[in-house]
Amino acid sequence: MNAGPAEQLEELRRQLAFHNYRYYVLDDPVITDAEYDRLYQRLQELEAAHPELITPDSPTQRVGGTAASDFARVRHTIPMLSLSNAFSRDELEAFGRRVQRILGDIDPDFSVEPKIDGLAVTLHYERGVFRLGATRGDGEVGEDVTANLRTVRSVPSRLQPPFPPYLEARGEVYMWRRDFERLNEQRLEQGESPFANPRNAAAGSLRQLDPGVTAGRPLRLFIYQLGGAGGVSLDTHTESLTYLRERGFPIVPDVRLVHCIDEAWLVIQAWEAKRLSLPFDIDGVVLKVNRLSLQQELGTVGRDPRWAIAYKFAPSQATTTVVDIEVTVGRTGSINPTAVLQPVEIAGVTVSRATLHNQDEIDRKDVRIGDTVIVQRAGDVIPEIVRVVVEHRSASEPPRWFLPTLCPSCGSPIVREPGDAIAYCVSSDCPAQLEERIIHFASRDAMDIEGLGEQVARVLVRRGLARSVADLYRLTKEQLVALDRFGEKSAENLVAAIAASKERPLERLLVALSIRHVGAKWAEVFAHTFGSLRAIGRATLEELTTTTGAGPVVCQSVRDFFAQPHNQALVDELERLGLRITQDRVIGALPLAGEEFVVTGRLSRLTRSEAEERLKRLGARIGNTVTKKTTHVVVGEEPGSKLSKAQKLGTPLLAEDGLMALLERHGAA
Ligand code: IVH
Repeated sequence: MNAGPAEQLEELRRQLAFHNYRYYVLDDPVITDAEYDRLYQRLQELEAAHPELITPDSPTQRVGGTAASDFARVRHTIPMLSLSNAFSRDELEAFGRRVQRILGDIDPDFSVEPKIDGLAVTLHYERGVFRLGATRGDGEVGEDVTANLRTVRSVPSRLQPPFPPYLEARGEVYMWRRDFERLNEQRLEQGESPFANPRNAAAGSLRQLDPGVTAGRPLRLFIYQLGGAGGVSLDTHTESLTYLRERGFPIVPDVRLVHCIDEAWLVIQAWEAKRLSLPFDIDGVVLKVNRLSLQQELGTVGRDPRWAIAYKFAPSQATTTVVDIEVTVGRTGSINPTAVLQPVEIAGVTVSRATLHNQDEIDRKDVRIGDTVIVQRAGDVIPEIVRVVVEHRSASEPPRWFLPTLCPSCGSPIVREPGDAIAYCVSSDCPAQLEERIIHFASRDAMDIEGLGEQVARVLVRRGLARSVADLYRLTKEQLVALDRFGEKSAENLVAAIAASKERPLERLLVALSIRHVGAKWAEVFAHTFGSLRAIGRATLEELTTTTGAGPVVCQSVRDFFAQPHNQALVDELERLGLRITQDRVIGALPLAGEEFVVTGRLSRLTRSEAEERLKRLGARIGNTVTKKTTHVVVGEEPGSKLSKAQKLGTPLLAEDGLMALLERHGAA
């Protein structure tokens, strides 16, 4: 049965109103933005075909969302407009032609800037003092969130002079992806439900009745527009951004001026390419006619200005279903659950698997086979399931999912120690582990054996030619040639490359052995401190911890490794085969080994990276954020939030003088 256009319109409006409510009021959408956009577009198309059916309450006739009743309402002096969207180059060119048609002879310049994925706010300043801040609300009336905005560090409380008697700036409050992830971790620890994405986290954090809660959230601000400034005359949008920067506002980054849509397209493609590697989410690029007088001339239709457009990227999230949950076995025996997905395209890449990390993560997200899930790509990391759309589960919900009790590769028991997030296959000769260990052994960061990649490693294990990493050093050219993937020359090269790897320094060999928790950093410290594989193997737990500063988990894992007879045999064998299992000790090891420094603020005698470089040379680690593991925070001038975090945690602080004295003491000043 086919519904008529009136019924279809009614259904679309009902759906959009529901999704608006989920998004604007509950900060908890159940569909992705792209799906929302598609519904909205269908409504627009249908209304265009049947203009007689447009009603005043259609979402196309007003901006969605109403002010939450708990906050005071603020009527915007100038409405906070929205932007029309373009999803293709054609639509962008159509925008260019429309602008050109209205302006006649004039060729306008456009500013091209990132579209920050947060929530819009407007900030009012009287005589240079922050007086009022509001959300956009429905574009006409927003919520008074002044007290909350005051807690956001990048919102200036006073402007830099000379300032006008009155100024209004508009921009976006948003959150870094990294901060968002940390916030969600905290929420989970406290038994609260996680936010779906950084934008919802920003919105939820700003719309808190208690500003104390907002203050603890990592919110940031970018300003993208001058709302008004009494007595200041500016000619272009980019001039107004410069003016705002000089008043002390953080401005949207990398605003570019272009002369035509073709040029804008190049800038858009550059943004799209670097989008996933930015620290925050952008969902598109905004084009604005730069000259303010031309903006005036172009004017506004409905809720959208005719002088601007948002080019929207393909979404980095998508909805799909979990077809299966598989487990793979890692090189240390770790059991890694992975969701097999109905393939779905996300930001130009087909995604068919997502990592599930461990059982706790699966329990927390409650992922089950058959579930509808929202999947996300961010940066270069493996796609992740953001959450399950529980609303899509049918009445007969699928059973909860648990890790198997036996290893899928060798059938040995899978054990999860108390306090560990990861479960492990306990076998020492599990073929799946061996394959992964050999791949890792030969990899660039370990023994760096050219020509021994993943495929070759798997073949060697499956054909029985490598039953341990030591077997690699006994491989002959003839054996390799017999595997049909090698010719004379390539077999010779691989044998030579394997032989050459015997000369790698001890710290590399330590990394290559796949000892749990021992990566490049601790391998270097252990190698420098003990000078030989045997000495490390003989060291007691206490010797390991006191001489290197490594934590008990790392040291216990080293003990466990060397306590196993087959690993002792392996060390003997590697020595017999002529690998370098000793190296010169660095006397007294590195003085700052095991310490973790975080540097914040400006230093006067060194740049920050020079300071970090010198600390690293003394064996210290450098952290980006202050955590419980941080042992010292170096505080320069105008320190950031890291200082308050350090004070909260009671982390020892070091002023620049103290740092210089420390460096001097160790000959690194
Ligand atoms: S200009 C009249 N510039 O996108 C022009 N908006 O869909 C008003 N946004 O409500 C907006 N980055 O919250 C503009 N560089 C940018 C932006 C931006 C993000 C948001 C803003 C606005 C929404 C429009």
